[in-house]
Amino acid sequence: MSTSHLFEPLRIGAVEARNRILLAPLTRMRAGPGNVPGPMNATYYRQRASAGLIVAEATQVVPEGQGYPNTPGIHSPQQIEGWRRVTDAVHAAGGLIFLQLWHVGRVSHSSFQPGRVLPVSASAVRIEGRLLTAAGPTEYETPRALEQKELAGIVDGYRRGAENARAAGFDGVEVHGANGYLLEQFLNDQTNHRTDAWGGSIVNRSRLLIETMRAVCDTWSADRVGVRLSPWGIANDCTDSDPVKLHAHVIGRLAPMGLAYLHLIEPRAAGTGRSDALREDAPSASGTFRKIWPGALIAAGGFTADSADAAIAAGTADAVAFGRWFISNPDLPARFRRGAELTPYNRKTFYGGAEAGYTDYPTL
Ligand SMILES: Cc1cc2nc3c(=O)[nH]c(=O)nc-3n(C[C@H](O)[C@H](O)[C@H](O)COP(=O)(O)O)c2cc1C
Repeated sequence: MSTSHLFEPLRIGAVEARNRILLAPLTRMRAGPGNVPGPMNATYYRQRASAGLIVAEATQVVPEGQGYPNTPGIHSPQQIEGWRRVTDAVHAAGGLIFLQLWHVGRVSHSSFQPGRVLPVSASAVRIEGRLLTAAGPTEYETPRALEQKELAGIVDGYRRGAENARAAGFDGVEVHGANGYLLEQFLNDQTNHRTDAWGGSIVNRSRLLIETMRAVCDTWSADRVGVRLSPWGIANDCTDSDPVKLHAHVIGRLAPMGLAYLHLIEPRAAGTGRSDALREDAPSASGTFRKIWPGALIAAGGFTADSADAAIAAGTADAVAFGRWFISNPDLPARFRRGAELTPYNRKTFYGGAEAGYTDYPTL
């Protein structure tokens, strides 16, 4: 099969990607003290600068947004400085890099929270299951429902995150509206039981995401802002009873904003052994929503070079973001171009640790 479409350049808002093989946002839990990116993180991203666009890992916009050990932030001057080392390294290697803006909401634990208070969410609905804290595996706590008067502050956290990302030299930002984190906790009816203007109807449940997108676009420029959604996602015990209706509304509201791109996670990563494996019976997300999205559309989830090329050829996606294969193949575009063999990835080193399984995968 051909992979020729993967090497066509693509306009993504304000930037021009040199190919359509993007690096998906990947949490690796390897930030330094103070959740500050260090030289090892700069090396990791520089190694992957041949991606058409790098979407850097989910990064908490406020301290309360953290839910795992050693994930980077973008709220302190030291973090901005640390990220500056990363963006400089990527740009020196000819790459482009956006930052994924993150607030985990209830996917946190009081041990991560300033003042050791409960994490927050749309409603006081607990995740079934256990999380990993510094003290080991622990049951999730029942989060505190955010009060209406606090929501402007949540939106402002994302706005400041975007401002800080700009100061750190990023080419743009991606708002993380997927995988069961705070914005999706508001979107989905399983997790949003509010009776005020931020819950109930689809219009109300979409309000926090839409207001966040407006604020982030206003503070920078819509053509530097993307958004990631997972319509059929089941990650972090967060689902909706009617994902097509919900996401048709959300995407319809986002469409006139002039965003750089829409990034959709495909529901076909089942059988991967990941806790956020997606529903096997669901239709293609990009196939379902392509017709209502006027701009660049990125698809992710379970792609190979051939299936990515086919999706672009069919017009369901304009580019494909690769996660696991890009972890173990820093020169993934060169390998796809040559039809070279791929190095297998080691799940044991996905999250946390140091260079092993991070910066030591070979190039061709
Ligand atoms: C180790 C790991 C970390 C991930 N971290 C994030 C993240 O920070 N933000 C996000 O939106 N998705 C995250 N994902 C999901 C990936 O971006 C991607 O959607 C998923 O791996 C499916 O693509 P793939 O089949 O090419 O790996 C992560 C996945 C993996 C395997």
